[in-house]
Amino acid sequence: MIGKQQFRLLVLPGDGIGPEVMREALRVVEWIGQYAEVEFTIRHALAGGAAIDAYGTPMLDETIEQAMHADAVLFGAVGGPRWEKLGFDLRPELAILRLRRELSLFANLRPVTVFDPLIEASTIKPEVIRNLDLMIVRECMGGLYFGEPRGIETMQDGQMRGFNTETYSTVEIERVARVAFDLARHRRRVVCSVEKANVTESGLVWRQVISKLHERDYADVELRHMYADNCAMQLVRNPKQFDVIVTGNIFGDILSDLASMLTGSLGMLPSATIGVPRGDRFVPAVYEPIHGSAPDIAGRGIANPMAQILSVAMMLRLSFRMEREATLVEQACIAALAAGARTADLAAAGEKALSTWEMGDAVLHQLEETAGKRQLTA
Ligand code: IPM
Ligand code: MN
Repeated sequence: MIGKQQFRLLVLPGDGIGPEVMREALRVVEWIGQYAEVEFTIRHALAGGAAIDAYGTPMLDETIEQAMHADAVLFGAVGGPRWEKLGFDLRPELAILRLRRELSLFANLRPVTVFDPLIEASTIKPEVIRNLDLMIVRECMGGLYFGEPRGIETMQDGQMRGFNTETYSTVEIERVARVAFDLARHRRRVVCSVEKANVTESGLVWRQVISKLHERDYADVELRHMYADNCAMQLVRNPKQFDVIVTGNIFGDILSDLASMLTGSLGMLPSATIGVPRGDRFVPAVYEPIHGSAPDIAGRGIANPMAQILSVAMMLRLSFRMEREATLVEQACIAALAAGARTADLAAAGEKALSTWEMGDAVLHQLEETAGKRQLTA
């Protein structure tokens, strides 16, 4: 008998609601393992504030090492008021920033998909968002987050001065743009590149490099350019004009939070952080919800686990090539929502809100249902 296929998974729940939503995601992972008869070898490690408290550093080198040797990293969220006073070399956020950088994961994929049952949960009018399906490709190894010089200095007159640098080079722009163009080829073939070429040199280089690459290798895809401020406005005015958006680190961070509200809640958006694929798989890669650790609601068991569960679906698809199972998880999430399952962030006034655990139950229940039906028709 051939042994089961094996995948090594590193789980980093992090802080705040991270561990709460991760618990539900792992129930889904376990279910899929049994259903698909694959073996997930799961290791857990501390990251962010939890690691600072335990080891005095947001991420041990050993954990980075483990991540490098894993097939995928499932990440929760990091940060919280407890650790806000620490220096940048010690902050919880450094955990995710180090992972992205040291694993050479330069593209952060943030799909903005509006699920029909949630049309009413969004603050935007139904006709504006119905069937919305766009993808934000955020560069995440460069730009303002990592540019040098950076620092805080005291000037001669005693004033403080904080400074950061936005930089983008040809290679950095081309590799993330390729991810966007390649994705667009499997979608509606439109890429919108977003920067501030009207005021920044890095934006101007971004625009020129993408245009050249487009001409050279991707003439079959339509390329549009947009300034970041206009893009923010267009995302709210008419988001369906977009197919794939490609942008730098800081604009991608901001625009993806904005776009998440089109789907009903920040608690709905998953993400995948990928680098150069190994064969047809992205290994290693990091999968995480785009929401943060939400210290205001942490510990109460009311957080929405959907973004973390949908991140599992992205992992199944991109790192493990389990397309069938990825779709199964996504369908189960939609079915749970269609059946009325709502955590507090999604519930209308007066509507019953489920706990994090109950929402996990609702998804697992739908997984059982769908899998059962499939077996009958198989
Ligand atoms: C995100 C988060 C991170 C970021 C933080 C936690 C460093 O906001 O993934 O969007 O700014 O990239
Ligand atoms: Mn963010």
